Amino acid sequence: MAKDFLISPSILSADFARLGEEVDNVLASGADVVHFDVMDNHYVPNLTIGPLVCDALRKHGVTADIDVHLMVKPVDRIIPDFAAAGATYITFHPEASEHIDRSLQLIRDEGCKPGLVFNPATPLDVLEYVMDKVDMILLMSVNPGFGGQSFIDSTLTKLRQVRKLIDASGRDIRLEVDGGVKVDNIREIAEAGADMFVAGSAIFGAANDADPHHYETVVAAMRAELAKVS
Ligand code: DX5
Ligand code: ZN
Repeated sequence: MAKDFLISPSILSADFARLGEEVDNVLASGADVVHFDVMDNHYVPNLTIGPLVCDALRKHGVTADIDVHLMVKPVDRIIPDFAAAGATYITFHPEASEHIDRSLQLIRDEGCKPGLVFNPATPLDVLEYVMDKVDMILLMSVNPGFGGQSFIDSTLTKLRQVRKLIDASGRDIRLEVDGGVKVDNIREIAEAGADMFVAGSAIFGAANDADPHHYETVVAAMRAELAKVS
């Protein structure tokens, strides 16, 4: 049976001057979810977009799920704003909240799906206590802050560990991977247990005037690799 894989393009690598059109195009090209990277120049050394831009995408007409990845510290103040702006998933890094359980509950209470994000060197220990409270576990396969970095191979081992935890929990929890995902490694990543794939530069970086269907080409190539997953 074909697995339920979701492709979540990171708009970090999109053309921000034409963001609505870029999101429309990538969704029309077969992508499933919009990955929305929020950076604060404090938790990570870069600054991006906030709830106003999420709200603008909803008002533009985007109906796909929006996967808000918070790389901000602290998180609680901004969670209700993202819920009001139309976020579907809201994920945060455990290091960025003093009260992880409370932040997860806040996301749930605001009507969104909560998740935790683990950096390449962050241990998974907190998961033991909150498996019943997360709808997504996101493993960073690069250090957060920038698009276009190379996939860190130790993430494959970590993915296998988290896949076991999810299966043992019996809960419907997405296992997402973020950073350096390309056509040539997506199959191996899926075989390690991921079922949701963030790809920024691999999709938006493929912009090429010679191929007006470049997003479609990359998304289709990723799906073809995923179809080979045993
Ligand atoms: C990095 C972000 C990623 C990033 C992925 O901090 O969380 O979502 O945009 O970009 P690529 O796919 O280019 O590694
Ligand atoms: Zn991200």
